[in-house]
Amino acid sequence: MRLLVKNVSTAYGNKNILHDVTLPDIPGGCIVGLLGPNASGKSTLMKCLAGEKKCDGHISFDAINLAESQQKDWFDKVATMPQSPPSPTALTPTELMWSTARALALPVSDSDLAAKIEGIFKDLGLAQFALSPLHTLSGGKRQLVGLALALIRDPELLLLDEPTSALDLHWKMSVLDLVHDKVKREGIVALAALHDLDLAARYCDRLVLLNQGHIIASGTPFEVLTPQNIEQVYHVATEVSDTGKGYPRIDIIAPLKGKSAHA
Ligand SMILES: Nc1ncnc2c1ncn2[C@@H]1O[C@H](COP(=O)(O)OP(=O)(O)OP(=O)(O)O)[C@@H](O)[C@H]1O
Ligand SMILES: [Mg+2]
Repeated sequence: MRLLVKNVSTAYGNKNILHDVTLPDIPGGCIVGLLGPNASGKSTLMKCLAGEKKCDGHISFDAINLAESQQKDWFDKVATMPQSPPSPTALTPTELMWSTARALALPVSDSDLAAKIEGIFKDLGLAQFALSPLHTLSGGKRQLVGLALALIRDPELLLLDEPTSALDLHWKMSVLDLVHDKVKREGIVALAALHDLDLAARYCDRLVLLNQGHIIASGTPFEVLTPQNIEQVYHVATEVSDTGKGYPRIDIIAPLKGKSAHA
């Protein structure tokens, strides 16, 4: 299992968004953090990888070339948790999970599907909300439903677009622990767009730093999260230290005056 992303470029109208994006080869069992300021192209790259947005260049996973594959073959392997959680409708999490699974024709019996849904809800702390209309759930709980909808597909490539942005501290860590365990146990690949550099450093094997649609750096958290790279891209002064646990800690000192990440 290996994700290959080479020279990917794409545009919205005549505005180029991604410029020749090449990622290091990503083997199974690897969590990659996709970093970069607002509007740097993280979600756009996720959409290209999900097969939702056309792009130039090469994307393949597990020897399936996205451009040449049947849509179904790609969708069988890849699941996305989008940046926006499911809209607050009158549907319940349980109804959404069943309709998603059946719309995708997942090859699983009703009893196995029921057990699978129950297990995912338990892992994500959603069991007590399983039968509550989505519009009665908090933003964080709806975000967890978004993750549940990706997990029910049992993907081999899991694309997580800011999976923890609305979650409290407990669930931020729990969700990333869960993703980490799944990736290591099943040998799948996860790519997560993240704004929290400390969480990215702690949970990701590799990081990729995007700015204005260009790759600025990629490698281990120690290689990517240098004060120079962070200052260049986010326009903040930082101190980076070694936690002694195999990953760095980033202390944000101050935003640099007169600059924004979009300047
Ligand atoms: N549907 C769209 N039509 C036109 N432009 C778009 C569209 N979606 C995104 N863009 C533009 O593409 C660029 C990259 O946006 P993208 O959503 O990929 O950034 P991002 O890195 O995910 O940002 P954020 O951290 O805010 O989620 C931005 O300039 C954005 O305005
Ligand atoms: Mg985004």
